[in-house]
Amino acid sequence: MRPLAFSLLRELSHAHFTSGAMLASKYAVSRSAISDALGDAREAGIGILSLTRKGYRLALPLEMLDIERIRAALGATAKRVDVLVLPTVDSTNSALMERASGGAPSGLCLVAESQTAGRGRRGRVWHSAFGESLMFSLLWRFDKGAAELGGLSLVVGLAVVRALRASGLTDAGRVGLKWPNDVIADNAKLAGVLIESQGEMAGPTAVVIGIGINIGQSAAMTARIDQPSTAVAALTSMPPSRNLLLAAVLRELVTLLDIFRTRGFAALKGEWQAQHVLHGKPVRVLFADGSGVDATVKTVGDDGALIVTVNGRALHIVAGEVSLRQITP
Ligand code: BTN
Repeated sequence: MRPLAFSLLRELSHAHFTSGAMLASKYAVSRSAISDALGDAREAGIGILSLTRKGYRLALPLEMLDIERIRAALGATAKRVDVLVLPTVDSTNSALMERASGGAPSGLCLVAESQTAGRGRRGRVWHSAFGESLMFSLLWRFDKGAAELGGLSLVVGLAVVRALRASGLTDAGRVGLKWPNDVIADNAKLAGVLIESQGEMAGPTAVVIGIGINIGQSAAMTARIDQPSTAVAALTSMPPSRNLLLAAVLRELVTLLDIFRTRGFAALKGEWQAQHVLHGKPVRVLFADGSGVDATVKTVGDDGALIVTVNGRALHIVAGEVSLRQITP
């Protein structure tokens, strides 16, 4: 979508028509430029109604990212994070990794309306449709080396769960975590976390924490995703605002990252485990080479490793190229 389309989407309402002539005059472009830009938005899947002499109206309500609302909702956390809203980017993680190499400060957060090359864990593509996802990355700098940050990705998943609960998804039984950091609701994926880092073995380390939360999910999107997935809109009749949810996740993240920095994952392990949907369950552990083993989930270690038993023997699994499938006993 061309940049003008993003600006126009902020102007349009679901409640009333907005005149094309007014938009053309406000943005100092021709009426056909307005029509072309809104054509881009239609191509991105956004329903826009148009009527001669009346103008344009959104077919459905659409909440665009709004830096003022985000900052206001951050409260005291606004001093710890600097949020930049991007209309479109290849991947907020890739863009932030680049800025991290250039010396960007801890606390920089990039949030995008759309990603053209969103990335997931284990080389997967992260699909998103316009306005249906919350996609952002936060840069956090640690003195420690990456080897000592083992439980970090679990802490991030916990921050997302806390924020979803605080934002109204209070049906505690439905939302939970699947090791290492998937956020699950009703056995389907609701949000994912991609953590990337750069630095020396002994530290310091710059960590880019990428989070994607499914807010709405059209049938077209569901068909593109190759695993069971769900969305916030499917879990509540009153979905939280994307802007407020982003602020809520950042607030929880900063709180938990402070605890993690001083006391490590051990301080959060109990709370994490209470949210783990596979706790005590029989699972199949699938390794990168395609092999697998049946196991029972026991606990998580202070380093974030999953501890399972296989034929009565404990096995420590570190996140990476491993995935878990629940099996029926
Ligand atoms: C997963 O596979 O579960 C992780 C998905 C992470 C997706 C988010 S969206 C924002 C950030 N930018 C990316 O390219 N990926 C992460």
